[in-house]
Amino acid sequence: MSDPLERLRDLQRADLPVHGGRTLAYVYDSGDAEVDRVAREAVAAYAASNALDPTAFPSLLQMENELVGFACDLLDAPDGAVGTVTSGGTESILLAVQGARDSRPDVLRPRMVLPATAHAAFHKAAHYFGVEAVVVPVGPDFRADATATADAIDDDTVLVVASAPSYAHGVVDPVTDIAAAAAARGVRCHVDACIGGWVLPYAARLGRAVPAWTFAVEGVTSISVDTHKYAYAPKGTSLLLHRDAGLRRPQFFASAAWPGYTMLNATTQSTRSGGPIAGTWAVVQHIGDGGYLALAEQVLAAVDAIVTCVEREPALGLVVTPDSTLVTLATDDTLDPFTLTDELVSRGWYVQPQLSFEGSGPTIHLSVSAGTLAHVDELATALGESVAAAQAAGPVEVDHGVVAFIEALDPTALTDSDFDGLLAASGLVSASAEGDLELPTRMAEVNAMLDVASPAMREALLVAFLDRLQRPVRTS
Ligand SMILES: Cc1ncc(COP(=O)(O)O)c(C=O)c1O
Repeated sequence: MSDPLERLRDLQRADLPVHGGRTLAYVYDSGDAEVDRVAREAVAAYAASNALDPTAFPSLLQMENELVGFACDLLDAPDGAVGTVTSGGTESILLAVQGARDSRPDVLRPRMVLPATAHAAFHKAAHYFGVEAVVVPVGPDFRADATATADAIDDDTVLVVASAPSYAHGVVDPVTDIAAAAAARGVRCHVDACIGGWVLPYAARLGRAVPAWTFAVEGVTSISVDTHKYAYAPKGTSLLLHRDAGLRRPQFFASAAWPGYTMLNATTQSTRSGGPIAGTWAVVQHIGDGGYLALAEQVLAAVDAIVTCVEREPALGLVVTPDSTLVTLATDDTLDPFTLTDELVSRGWYVQPQLSFEGSGPTIHLSVSAGTLAHVDELATALGESVAAAQAAGPVEVDHGVVAFIEALDPTALTDSDFDGLLAASGLVSASAEGDLELPTRMAEVNAMLDVASPAMREALLVAFLDRLQRPVRTS
């Protein structure tokens, strides 16, 4: 019998590195090994504890309330504000939408007004909770259009949304105007600060220009901020804050309609591992307010350095000047963004391709971490080499036959044989006799193929792909 921990370490070698500041999506690295040690020990100490019952595990309730208190100070929350630790940004958003819906039982066909740049989690919430997403196009600077947002609010609107900042473009929406429009109609306004909420207040304290977006803005009723992003906490926590306890009440769920314990939950989860809560609490205690200010200074310095090196590359540009720690790159006709992404990945820099959307071409997303600062010179070198290599390689072309194949498919009724047919036609992903997929190491061709597909077809293809990936590994 092999040692499972040895096997674990072996398996993990296939993954992106979570330390080293070179993985510029999915993970956030403080660059401080002590932060990781504190997180690891706290997660391990509480891995089996259950926040389901605060009377059984009062230490977890204490940690949760202290975390929310820290965030209240950070986000200018008034006295009376309350909050909950959730499992991540998506759960915080789901709960904000569910709470808004359930606060208005008089509305039979609830709607929420979203900028087109709002995170996909709002579309998931629309799907789960039967709330119609009314999507408002953003302005030319990729920020929400406050006037169009106000015009889209009607008697059935239960929620208006703004981002601080948006994921795809890294800019902060005009929260003051949007929240005022929502308040004027008596509608809740949620600010999705999942990715930027732990950095922007420090950026403002460092003298950076940050538009108002916190509870200091009248009309903001709730804010989501992910501790597992820029609080550099271990994965599995976000905070959902409400301006007052009445706004939070519909989020709670109790059921005594069975013979077991009365179920009493503040989140979609019932059993909640104590690991992420304790890990987050320990990291926030360890780093503290002064530490976060220093980390914000580092990450913003890294962003400035990246912007400077992007500006030195004629074939590269910023889609928009970053408002915080997210950088979005566009390429000119001489440089294929998907090939550039592969070149950077092959040099140890993971960046995330973003597909064409509503008339805007593909872009490259970078979530920069404080831990990136020590390596920005290496990134500049990798970027220069990658641009040259991608230009030399030229753009990836999607075969006309494959384009025609995709166009002929119906995304609402994609079958397994359609999917297999596309794999065969494209020759990009090979499947074994058992149906197991062998992924290519370079993704440019796959991304280029997805880029020519409609959003509905991308969803259908990727769902079919996930269905193939999630298959049991049986040993007998
Ligand atoms: C603005 C924004 N909202 C929500 C989310 C969803 O967060 P999670 O992946 O933790 O569910 C993200 C994730 O990147 C985000 O950037």
